[in-house]
Amino acid sequence: MHKKNTVFLRTFGCQMNIRDSEVISGLLQKAGYRISATDQDADIIIFNTCSVRKHAEDRVWSLIGSYKGSKVIGLVGCMAQNYKEQAFQRDPHISFVVGPQDIHKLPVIIEKILGDNLFSDKNLLERKIWETAGDLRPEEIYHMDFYQDKNHAHVVISEGCSNFCSYCVVPYVRGALRHRKHKDILIEIREVIARGVTKVTLLGQNVNAYQDSQVNFTKLLEQVNALSGLKEFDFFTSHPKDAGVDFFKAIRDLEKLVKRLHLPLQSGSDKILKLMNRGYQAKDYLSLIDSYRKIVKSGRLTTDIIVGFPTETDAEFNQTYALVKKARFNAAYIFKYSSRPGTEAAKIIDPLKQAELEQRHRKILNLQRSISQELRSSQVDAKK
Ligand code: SAH
Ligand code: SF4
Ligand code: F3S
Repeated sequence: MHKKNTVFLRTFGCQMNIRDSEVISGLLQKAGYRISATDQDADIIIFNTCSVRKHAEDRVWSLIGSYKGSKVIGLVGCMAQNYKEQAFQRDPHISFVVGPQDIHKLPVIIEKILGDNLFSDKNLLERKIWETAGDLRPEEIYHMDFYQDKNHAHVVISEGCSNFCSYCVVPYVRGALRHRKHKDILIEIREVIARGVTKVTLLGQNVNAYQDSQVNFTKLLEQVNALSGLKEFDFFTSHPKDAGVDFFKAIRDLEKLVKRLHLPLQSGSDKILKLMNRGYQAKDYLSLIDSYRKIVKSGRLTTDIIVGFPTETDAEFNQTYALVKKARFNAAYIFKYSSRPGTEAAKIIDPLKQAELEQRHRKILNLQRSISQELRSSQVDAKK
């Protein structure tokens, strides 16, 4: 048995990854490793990564390169799943590659990599281990008692996604949609309440598709709302095709639930929405947010938009622009389309030039900025 080493985790991507990094920290701490807040005193650096856009991946490749073999490097998360063992060719300094469905194996994998004596073994950097074939996570990993924030905990309710939006890598790297048992979710929330947490965020790629035997998402929200000791909770992310009146009424009626909805639109053009495989049209989205606003009177509404999807014409872009203008979101994340190898959209030949992509991005960004600003100042006025 060697002296246990120090690990530094760098996390990229969505809230799911932030939670996964806590899970990994908990697992490794339990196995005797020290978790450090900086890379300086760490022997092992774990990159918990995101593949959703090329830019996110490029940053990680260049950061890994900056260590130049001075530490043991692990590539974990969505990029690990996306590149599998090819990651070792991309950067030979990587020692282990572990996909999101295999994170529970990390203590054993790191133990094998380190062998008996860290750095005394000249062959250390030649040792390579990869695990990207897993499909299920054991429930225990969610009970490692490691949470970054004393007051606010993130709790996974479902893993993976089966929607296959044509541009998106998530179903490929995170696997098919799986639901945690509602009893297990409630147990975890009771555990965090017992350690002093008062605020919880429920996580999933498409939370409102949640279903565990008789418990759907609205029921789950009711059960969480009823937990004593919890003061406030919210959830992330919803999908328009699974949102409806009952769900909006739950947001209105459950007193601990934050009156806020993040409902990704992606595009205002029906042709593009169809190519994206989103399962709704612009008019459906508009009537949905109309219903949300009628039911949850002063509820906040935010969204995600992708500009420059392959074949998007000026006219189609203008439909998105018009919809953003009409919808008056409190905030919106505007993304430039990024082609992801292996997805359906990547097969469409993309005629869009970078300059055009930038221009469309800037145009919606500016529009949304002024809307957000107006809404903020009208709220301030209302409070005066
Ligand atoms: N499951 C969530 C979000 C996952 S990714 C949902 O469906 O809402 C977060 C956002 O990244 C998406 O909503 C989308 O707007 C954006 N995105 C995903 N793939 C992308 C790509 N290939 N290029 C640009 N943006 C992308
Ligand atoms: Fe990706 Fe669509 Fe699933 Fe969201 S719903 S993770 S955008 S495939
Ligand atoms: Fe990125 Fe993976 Fe989340 S691809 S957005 S970290 S699920």
